[in-house]
Amino acid sequence: MAHARIGVHPIAGAIGAEITGIDLSRPMDDETFAEVRRAFNQHLVIFFRDQVITPEQHKAFGRRFGDLDVDRFVLPGMPEHPEIIVVKKTEGERYAFGNVWHADVTFYEKPVLGSMLYALEVPPHGGDTLFANMYLAYETLSEGLKRSLADLRAVHSAIGAYDSSAIKDRFGPERSIQIRRDREDEARREMSHPVVRTHPETGRKSLFVDRAYTKRLDGMTAEESRPLLEYLWTHQEKPEFTCRFRWQKGSLAFWDNRCAHHYANNDYHGFVRLMHRVTVCGDTPR
Ligand SMILES: [Fe+2]
Repeated sequence: MAHARIGVHPIAGAIGAEITGIDLSRPMDDETFAEVRRAFNQHLVIFFRDQVITPEQHKAFGRRFGDLDVDRFVLPGMPEHPEIIVVKKTEGERYAFGNVWHADVTFYEKPVLGSMLYALEVPPHGGDTLFANMYLAYETLSEGLKRSLADLRAVHSAIGAYDSSAIKDRFGPERSIQIRRDREDEARREMSHPVVRTHPETGRKSLFVDRAYTKRLDGMTAEESRPLLEYLWTHQEKPEFTCRFRWQKGSLAFWDNRCAHHYANNDYHGFVRLMHRVTVCGDTPR
């Protein structure tokens, strides 16, 4: 079905489309929003360019998709807008948030539906974000492996990824994004989700394990799980399943966390990159 009110321009074969004809600082009628939502379901991540929006307008657009999440683990949020995480890397920092293939907070019982990232300051080059289509990752497996995965569950946890001492060892002490130390025990909790997830809106199946948060297959040891998980992780990251988005000031990306992975490329040391992130609450994976 064609889009009457917006322009939809895929940026790669597998995933991602730029939306034109929208000014996010202005109210959006329901018919236009329905087209945006359809493009989102079809392309998994949608991009808008040259937007000038306030935190209120950012949150208002997020709320069209559902309730907003207040992140329990990451500091700092904006004091007057706790739903907004400030994603920042300074000139002197080596660490970059999200610099591993992942879906967001899969260690939640209800991982977020999606995340909406808005660029306020970008480096002159570098700092791109890559996205990968997990429907395709699933659909390109053999029928035999699909059958083997059908009843498997995997254990997710933020341990390692959110471990402040491990990050400090690797990147040094300077870090704009801090993990709340008082929540580290909570981050170590384990959550079991199906390895193959069915999208509640599209009905399509996707591969729901990732390199950042999936620790082992449920009912197996980490050692036993590793070869299969390693295969799936490597398979998921094939360039054919991905797109790469080059940010400009005023770009906004919204990805479907239920069926897409993302990776923040950490190749811009010496420059500032500043983003605001709003996340939309999700449901229990089935
Ligand atoms: Fe992320």
